[in-house]
Amino acid sequence: MKREAASVIDHYTRDDLMERIRAALMRRGYDPDKPSIEMLSELDHLHGGGFATTEAQIELAEIPRGCQVLDAGCGIGGPSRYLAGVHGCTVNGIDLTPGYIDVAGRLNEMTGLSGKITLTVGSVTDLPYETELFDAVLCQNVSMNIADKDRMAKEALRVLKPGGIYTLSHLAEGPNGPPVYPLPWALTAEASFLGTPQDLLETLSRVGFTDIEDRAGRARSKPGGGPQPGTIGAAPAMGDDMPARTANAAQSVQAGRLVPMMVVARRADR
Ligand SMILES: C[S@@+](CC[C@H](N)C(=O)[O-])C[C@H]1O[C@@H](n2cnc3c(N)ncnc32)[C@H](O)[C@@H]1O
Repeated sequence: MKREAASVIDHYTRDDLMERIRAALMRRGYDPDKPSIEMLSELDHLHGGGFATTEAQIELAEIPRGCQVLDAGCGIGGPSRYLAGVHGCTVNGIDLTPGYIDVAGRLNEMTGLSGKITLTVGSVTDLPYETELFDAVLCQNVSMNIADKDRMAKEALRVLKPGGIYTLSHLAEGPNGPPVYPLPWALTAEASFLGTPQDLLETLSRVGFTDIEDRAGRARSKPGGGPQPGTIGAAPAMGDDMPARTANAAQSVQAGRLVPMMVVARRADR
């Protein structure tokens, strides 16, 4: 577990991350000292389809406006800022990568959202929150880094209020063989924990979730797609080789080697 965490942190850590983000904003003609949530949304949603996928997932999962949400594996905080700044939610964000949490905090301050988003360095498999705290847990493109999905799902169930919503975007293995690496979340197969679509659905059922459904087929924008055309994309936060890694993901989806999932489940009401 310790080794897995270290390799995840290593994979996502970038030197001079804030400088990379500032430079990308400047190249785009945005003021790097006063970026809006909208400007940042071009680069801070670290999954295929970017901001459009976050918006689609929140809509499909029917996360109520103004509720209390955990952004599990929050990256540099794009989805958290959308939930807090546009959807009116109070948000806790947790991520294993300290450099991402540091930058997420600085971007929250710059956008005036520090009071609505609380950040913690930690693991989604060992959540430092009391039970039954959240109305919804959002987990976007994190589970491909997690071997012990039972533990991840049990922790999400524990911190959700009865009737609460758990929604994950995940890339599962497809029927046509292994995907092409490097991928956005892992450079090699050893660091990638996909499982079949059925495996994920069964995990959620086994730990006690109900109303489990993969809604990816209904999503306008899916977790395995490329960045939205004309936007900055995830390269400043995830590395200059992101276009090639994202293209591998998109091709693997096309070839039936990856299956984009957008799962929604509930903790049963009492
Ligand atoms: C592809 S990024 C997605 C970030 C964010 N969910 C988003 O969509 O913008 C994957 C994130 O998962 C985090 N991560 C991986 N394993 C984790 C774990 N066990 N606990 C918490 N965060 C984890 C990484 O540090 C990274 O920030």
